[in-house]
Amino acid sequence: MKKLWCLLFLIGFSSPLLVSGFEDEESNCFALRDEICPNANITFWLYTKAKPEGIELSQFNLPKDEFLPLKPLKVIIHGFKGHRNYTPNIQLRPLFNNLDINVISLDYHKLAYEPCYSEAVNNAKFVGRCIAQFLETLLKNKLVKNKDLHLIGFGIGAHVAGFVGNFISQHKLEHITALDPAKPLFLVKDRAQKLDPTDAKFVDVVHTDVMMLGLLEAVGHVDFYLNMGVSQPNCGPINLMETHFCYHNRAADYYAESISNPSGFYGFYCPDFKSFATGVCVPSKDFEVMGFEVHPEARGRYFLDTNSMPPYAMGYNLKNLNRQLKGRTFINDDMIDKFLETNDEA
Ligand SMILES: *[C@@H]1O[C@H](CO)[C@@H](O)[C@H](O)[C@H]1NC(C)=O
Repeated sequence: MKKLWCLLFLIGFSSPLLVSGFEDEESNCFALRDEICPNANITFWLYTKAKPEGIELSQFNLPKDEFLPLKPLKVIIHGFKGHRNYTPNIQLRPLFNNLDINVISLDYHKLAYEPCYSEAVNNAKFVGRCIAQFLETLLKNKLVKNKDLHLIGFGIGAHVAGFVGNFISQHKLEHITALDPAKPLFLVKDRAQKLDPTDAKFVDVVHTDVMMLGLLEAVGHVDFYLNMGVSQPNCGPINLMETHFCYHNRAADYYAESISNPSGFYGFYCPDFKSFATGVCVPSKDFEVMGFEVHPEARGRYFLDTNSMPPYAMGYNLKNLNRQLKGRTFINDDMIDKFLETNDEA
């Protein structure tokens, strides 16, 4: 397993197309072709302050009373191996409902289960298309205002949110938040095939595993790199793949903490990853807050460290910033040198 992911990393940085050579070990993986929406494998669940246990929604019989009076609506989209009660739903949903913010949790677990990663990537655009159709129904029925609509996607779910932006025709989406958007198979240059800033009026991104499961590349209007996005504290031994899943999932924990502590995570501006890593870039007065209270005018890349235990937020912190790249993941030092020399996304 470790070898496979190491290879994914290696070729991920050179030729993403080769990755598709790693077909899944099992043949019963399920790839959508051109199915119509709605699709029985893509379900929508509404959670409100009054109904925190959730109700399944049907596009053809919407429970209007549950939406009224109109409230902000977060649409949470899980990633690979996820479902409606998995990261980032479990971290975020109760906090939003407490604030009387409605949540729709997507569930497309039958289209994104292990080990069927490349099928999950293939399915992402179909899931995005069905979400777009569903949201258009909500908008048309005036159950949410476009300006109150906010999509939050994790891993592959971040790219699903990007596809929603491509498919929704009447409106430009207001806001997409990407929690560690997935990297494997998304290193394509074509912006139509992954999340990018044209998918919504405002796209903010939280990076927590740029060396393995998440994109290093900036794909939003503003991109935050926590602990450089390289490793996260208390995730276990660096030679295990599970440790990277922990780095990846941590994006949801940081975002959740930002809901209860909206001014906790301040990053400082740095033009690119490489100048942060090499120490060229020093903290200036250009700060932006990450998470729930992010400013829609924020632009560029911002870097911040966290505490090693919750509460993770350090407020404005300029001391002892960790700019170490080596020894924090199982990627060896030679590869890191090569990566810094050759990676133009950095
Ligand atoms: C739902 O997914 C399963 C595989 O997980 C597949 O067999 C079935 O055909 C799918 N149904 C639709 C409507 O796509």
